[in-house]
Amino acid sequence: MNILGLSCYYHDSAACLVRDGIVAAAIEEERLTRKKHDSSFPLNAIRHCLAEQGLSGGDLDAVAFYEKPLSKLERALMTSGDLAAWNIDHFISASARLEETIAEAIGYDRGLLYLEHHLSHAAAAFYPSPFEDAAILTVDGVGEWATTAIFAGQGGRIDQRSEIRYPDSLGLLYSAMTAFLGFEVNEGEYKLMGLASYGRPRHTALFERVIRLHPDGSFRLSPEFFSYAHHRDGMFTPALADLLGMAPRQPHEAIGQRHMDMAASIQAVLEQALLNLAGAARRITGARNLCMAGGVAHNVVANAAIRDSGLFEGLFIQPAAGDSGGALGAALYA
Ligand SMILES: [Fe+2]
Repeated sequence: MNILGLSCYYHDSAACLVRDGIVAAAIEEERLTRKKHDSSFPLNAIRHCLAEQGLSGGDLDAVAFYEKPLSKLERALMTSGDLAAWNIDHFISASARLEETIAEAIGYDRGLLYLEHHLSHAAAAFYPSPFEDAAILTVDGVGEWATTAIFAGQGGRIDQRSEIRYPDSLGLLYSAMTAFLGFEVNEGEYKLMGLASYGRPRHTALFERVIRLHPDGSFRLSPEFFSYAHHRDGMFTPALADLLGMAPRQPHEAIGQRHMDMAASIQAVLEQALLNLAGAARRITGARNLCMAGGVAHNVVANAAIRDSGLFEGLFIQPAAGDSGGALGAALYA
């Protein structure tokens, strides 16, 4: 059984070939085009995976896509105040033509399997893990509607137990602070995490007005501080600067201690929110092991806090925790 998994059209396009349940080949498009975070149709990655195994499109039994474009479009139409900035025409035509594009590229024309975005992340975390049963926590910016989900994995099964929906998003909160501190969204989050180690979390109390953590593990963001729901390129409102008592750092502005302290503060807030979620995952599933994926699972400092918390005996983080790993999860789940 040969299954091809794909992710594309947002960032970090990738292809993955699974043969009889084993990952035979997987690669991000950017590694072949040398274009960082390449989001285009992963033609080169697909060809690479097939060539690696001496296969052609006709040898494939199924092709699985890592999310449901129509649900994503629904969210954009229902929540965005700036549809022009979404480049909706391009999104619709690219997604609608996906099956046609695959047929033209490799001659495979037997339809696509569309998985939920967070289910793809969950599958990418659980199936490659060493665990027979585990709680699965997926946390990112946003997929279709979900931004966070808890699953129970047992044997070959993955069952969703809860989810948190857009616009409440830890990934978007962290990206908003990435932008606030002068780094590029969907690229500079690791710089924010690194910067945090130079500061002290002196401002965490300020974030109590930004994010509320609930005893059941969930959280809510206060919408007045964020603009990502209204403008695709916007992340935060002037109210955030007022609350934090500092101007957003410009990209070429020198980094000062106050920036480091703010980075340490949002990192501490993120860790608290993730520990709250991990505790809920433990209670809901009863599992002794935890698997994680989604872009936020690239935050290794937070991952270490979860590991050291004692909540779980075993922890597995999918190395391709971001959306490129969705291609892997889609292929493994299918
Ligand atoms: Fe994602």
